[in-house]
Amino acid sequence: MRGRFARLDREAFEATPIPDFMTTAATPAPTALTTIDWDYVEFYVGNAQQAAHFYCTAFGFDQIAYAGPETGVAGRVSYLLEQNKLRFLITASLLPDDDIARHVALHGDGVKDIAILVDDAKAAWEQATRAGAQSVRAPKTDHDAHGTIVRASIATYGDTIHTFVQRSDYNGVFAPGFVEARKSYPNAKKTGLQFIDHCVGNVGWGQMDEWGEFYAKVFGFSQLISFDDKDISTEFTALKSKVMSDPLHRVKFPINEPAEGKKKSQIEEFLDFYHGAGVQHIAIRTDDIVATIRALAANGVEFLNTPDSYYEMLPERVGAIDEDIAILRELRILVDRDDLGYMLQIFTKPLQDRPTVFFEIIQRKGSLSFGKGNFKALFVSIEREQEKRGTL
Ligand code: FE2
Repeated sequence: MRGRFARLDREAFEATPIPDFMTTAATPAPTALTTIDWDYVEFYVGNAQQAAHFYCTAFGFDQIAYAGPETGVAGRVSYLLEQNKLRFLITASLLPDDDIARHVALHGDGVKDIAILVDDAKAAWEQATRAGAQSVRAPKTDHDAHGTIVRASIATYGDTIHTFVQRSDYNGVFAPGFVEARKSYPNAKKTGLQFIDHCVGNVGWGQMDEWGEFYAKVFGFSQLISFDDKDISTEFTALKSKVMSDPLHRVKFPINEPAEGKKKSQIEEFLDFYHGAGVQHIAIRTDDIVATIRALAANGVEFLNTPDSYYEMLPERVGAIDEDIAILRELRILVDRDDLGYMLQIFTKPLQDRPTVFFEIIQRKGSLSFGKGNFKALFVSIEREQEKRGTL
């Protein structure tokens, strides 16, 4: 019997397949990684109990499971949060100087692990390390009364890792060491967040191509679309970005690097505060962005602002859309169009003390873009925030 997380049934939410013309290369040969999906994202934080409470009450997650000294896990605590197909693991150290404590001391609260569901974790790890990935943890099988789980990890940019998770023979609440610890927050509004659309990494100057190549070689991913710095720049700040995707277009990793501008790029600001490369934002899908943003705002989530002039230019820029522009303007939701349709998106403010990790909320109506046309508007609003911090 397959575990409850064995296969994330996403058909109801899946976008139309990405046409061949949007990828740069022929679809890669099938590999050990072709049947992948997101499994969980693990955050390393200074205080897991409080961070878990924040993500539950602000973003509508439920706490599902817990691991710590009480469950036989020494030196750290982890809370598993769940909402529809989203799973976040919030982990903190109980020690002064282990990997988790050092990660938090250097980077602040941030994303440590983007874990990927695979059919065969050992084969995925072998393929990845053969292709040049650095191993973080060799394949390891863990058992408990609920079955067997196999995990293996490799390094990616900065101190970030990918864990390959094989859970087809596991039907426990999450993994050995975790016990069910359900807690919901009835006063927090339900937000309708569904699953991860993409997860963006910021890397250093001139490193975007190298990391794009990493996802091509190690994961068998193809490049979806590319921006150059002329596309994504304002008067003061610029970046370069490319999007790497698995052949099924479920797992998408945009990679950003700073580009020359008159003032410090927002990517550079991230690299300074994070002390290196790391996850910049996690984009989460909803099928009703207006309802989602109203609920998140009621729960206290703060979003980047967008100038009024953006909405004056909107009808001309994107043409006819189903939504009332007055409501989009009220909520500061952005719209972008490509050949296949349009998408709506908005970005939260940073989710911890440092101006590093944030979320994007995204609804797709046919479009497969990442908001190229919105970058300029977004950057203008990010620069306003940078100006307040004196780092522009
Ligand atoms: Fe994004």
